[in-house]
Amino acid sequence: MEIKKITVLGAGQMGNGIAHVCAQAGYEVKMRDIEQRFLDRGFETIKKNLGRAVKKGKMSQEEADTIVGRITGVLDLKDAVKDADLVIEAIPEVVKLKLDTWKEVDEAAPDHAILASNTSSISITQMAAVTKRPEQFIGMHFFNPVPVMGLVEIIKGAATADSTVDVIKTVSEKVGKKTVIVNEAPGFAVNRVLIPAINEAILAIQEGVATVEDMDLAIKLGLNWPMGPLTLADFVGLDTLLYIADYFVDEFKDSKYRAPALLRKMVRAGWLGRKTGKGFYDYSGEKPVPLRF
Ligand code: CAA
Repeated sequence: MEIKKITVLGAGQMGNGIAHVCAQAGYEVKMRDIEQRFLDRGFETIKKNLGRAVKKGKMSQEEADTIVGRITGVLDLKDAVKDADLVIEAIPEVVKLKLDTWKEVDEAAPDHAILASNTSSISITQMAAVTKRPEQFIGMHFFNPVPVMGLVEIIKGAATADSTVDVIKTVSEKVGKKTVIVNEAPGFAVNRVLIPAINEAILAIQEGVATVEDMDLAIKLGLNWPMGPLTLADFVGLDTLLYIADYFVDEFKDSKYRAPALLRKMVRAGWLGRKTGKGFYDYSGEKPVPLRF
């Protein structure tokens, strides 16, 4: 089966990145969100990120415009999916919202369409089960920033057909990503390792083992990570990390995944990282300033 038309649900951090790389690979893309201002913000980010490549002489402005021109912004869900070959969902990580959306998509999308979720933790099998096509349902987990990161984790739910895996592998490679195939388990492969690592770094800060900037420097230089774990926590979003940690405790029934009290306190304070201007660093000035705990 050849994929030509892709619909991306959600124009946020992940959704606009996915729409961007799909359009850059030549697919005809619809990007759907629930309000025009979210679509506008998504398009702005795509243009800004394409602008980086134009500035560096890696792409002409004309090419960038052609890529943006392949993306249509849509508000109505039925309109968005009615002629899609592949629907990639990147809406908030709220189970009920995902299940309700998938029921609606399943009704409106063509029978041949493949349904893929970019969830970072929610069960693919649970989402597939609310549709009439669980064998055409799959996890397609991208990483932030989508245009830069080289991986797509492909997650097989209980009923996902091998032919669906093959199609998604081909699409992922066409958008320039390497793939790994993972059997469903909470957090798949990457977050299974990332969440405990970030939790441990936050616990160490909570215990006064090191300052925020020293912990980041230690891991950055000591392990050659591109970002230290607290910078990365701010980058991913502290609310997202807390959500995943809580989900792990529920799913694994194992307290070893529990979120540090400091993380919960920061989320309650509305310090969610870069997106709110404050997390382990304060981003209001020219340079990020580490907080003291
Ligand atoms: N969009 C497009 N391009 C971007 C970009 C963006 N948002 N941010 C950076 N870039 C590009 C730059 O233009 C630059 O391109 P060239 O190499 O062609 O010049 C390149 O990426 C490197 O950027 P910079 O030089 O500005 O900065 P850097 O070297 O510090 O890299 C980074 C920035 C790529 C974000 C790097 O710090 C990094 O890889 N950090 C780790 C990111 C990570 O771990 N992401 C996964 C998060 S977990 C997740 O997403 C899953 C989940 O479920 C929670």
